[in-house]
Amino acid sequence: MPVSIVIGSQWGDEGKGKVVDLLSQDIDIVARYQGGANAGHTIAWDDTTFVLHLVPSGIFHEGVTCVIGNGVVLDPAAVIEEIQTIKDLGYDVEDRLRISHNAHLIMPYHKAVEAAREEARDADAIGTTGRGIGPAYMDKFARTGIRVVDLLDRDVLREKLTRAIEEKNAILQRIYGADELDVDKIIEEYVEFDQLIDPYVTNTSEYLCNALDEGKHVLAEGAQGSLLDVDFGSYPYVTSSHPTAGGCCTGLGVPPTEVNRSIGIAKAYCTRVGNGPFPTELNDAVGEQLRDVGNEYGATTGRPRRCGWLDLVALRYTSMINGFTELAITKLDVLSGLDELKVCTAYQYNGKTTQRFRSEVQTLEKVEPVYETLPGWDDDITGVRHLAELPTEAQDYLAFVSDYLGVDVSMVSIGPKRQQIITDLEARMPA
Ligand code: GDP
Ligand code: IMO
Ligand code: MG
Repeated sequence: MPVSIVIGSQWGDEGKGKVVDLLSQDIDIVARYQGGANAGHTIAWDDTTFVLHLVPSGIFHEGVTCVIGNGVVLDPAAVIEEIQTIKDLGYDVEDRLRISHNAHLIMPYHKAVEAAREEARDADAIGTTGRGIGPAYMDKFARTGIRVVDLLDRDVLREKLTRAIEEKNAILQRIYGADELDVDKIIEEYVEFDQLIDPYVTNTSEYLCNALDEGKHVLAEGAQGSLLDVDFGSYPYVTSSHPTAGGCCTGLGVPPTEVNRSIGIAKAYCTRVGNGPFPTELNDAVGEQLRDVGNEYGATTGRPRRCGWLDLVALRYTSMINGFTELAITKLDVLSGLDELKVCTAYQYNGKTTQRFRSEVQTLEKVEPVYETLPGWDDDITGVRHLAELPTEAQDYLAFVSDYLGVDVSMVSIGPKRQQIITDLEARMPA
């Protein structure tokens, strides 16, 4: 059986957690391939709402094994805490979670360096989540990182940590004038993690490849969004990993020939947290309505999300990079009550109209969106379960998006809960 990838098609928070949870009903393994605790994936069912940061969003389905792959940067303190909260809800984690021995660790000094660097950037700050992601990936590629496997050998850990903290203290003090970190305190805390993490440590690439050989179905869960990709997003206002499809193979150690489904998750409008260009951003009453109705506040940091109209130019770009075989459109219910809906179908740039997305900040900051206006609808659609029950305007909105992109919409989410989903869409989609 193959690998399916769930990928954020915008700037993150598209509802990946909800879709992964839903698809997990028919999946054997769910695996995170990049990012770290900067992710906040919300899953809601009955009276429970849970935000996962590191553990894959299949964990609430007993038959699913969850994998944290080598491409993830793991905050050991955060994962231990998250495992405990999941156990407290009554779910078995011990036999169902595997953590790559090769995944790099996030240490307190990564967060300290990130905080100092963001402060120094001042008005140019990226607006990161403060989870140490960038500095951890820097150490990985500088070959000075500490990996999960190092946690299991106290002597090795002590030696590596001492060297790393000495270097980071020099940076913190001499470059940023920030406080030094206490080497002994950090070592004391981290050597204790060995027994807590040990039961989960696995060569996850080998595990996944064997599982695929045995006919198991793997769902790769992207974090962040394609427009935050370090290469394909609006650099430097991006994250430090590859949320795009390519990240799945390197972040899990599975061959590209196994991947046969690339599911793009797109909000019915756009949001962005942190700084950087956002062509369709609405700094007006409609933007506020989207934030209020959509409860657009970060699942990780609580920051208000910037809101705007759906940007099809950007979406076609991420569809191209990821080769979306289908789309899940989320939060369609949030658009209810708006008289008319605008959809960006082109950009004006340098006096010309273009449908080409340019990720360079200096260009993206200057483009003016060209909108097509579609009629809105008033009805509350949160109870709808079949496409035909949606107001015609809502059906037309979905068809417009699908036609523009040339990609089928296979799922429409109309509320945060697991059962608030429409899946019978074949009839309206283009051939
Ligand atoms: P993720 O990071 O992509 O998993 O998304 P987040 O969990 O950060 O943000 C999505 C938010 O929207 C969460 O609060 C979800 O509970 C909520 N949500 C997901 N789908 C829908 C939907 O269709 N309608 C509404 N109203 N909320 C949704
Ligand atoms: P999920 O998986 C939305 C944003 C930050 C910042 C930039 C860099 O929940 O969709 P980082 O801490 O990664 O170095 O921050 O990326 N960002 C996200 N925005 N959803 C996320 O994850 C994000 N993870 C990072 O706000 O702009
Ligand atoms: Mg999120």
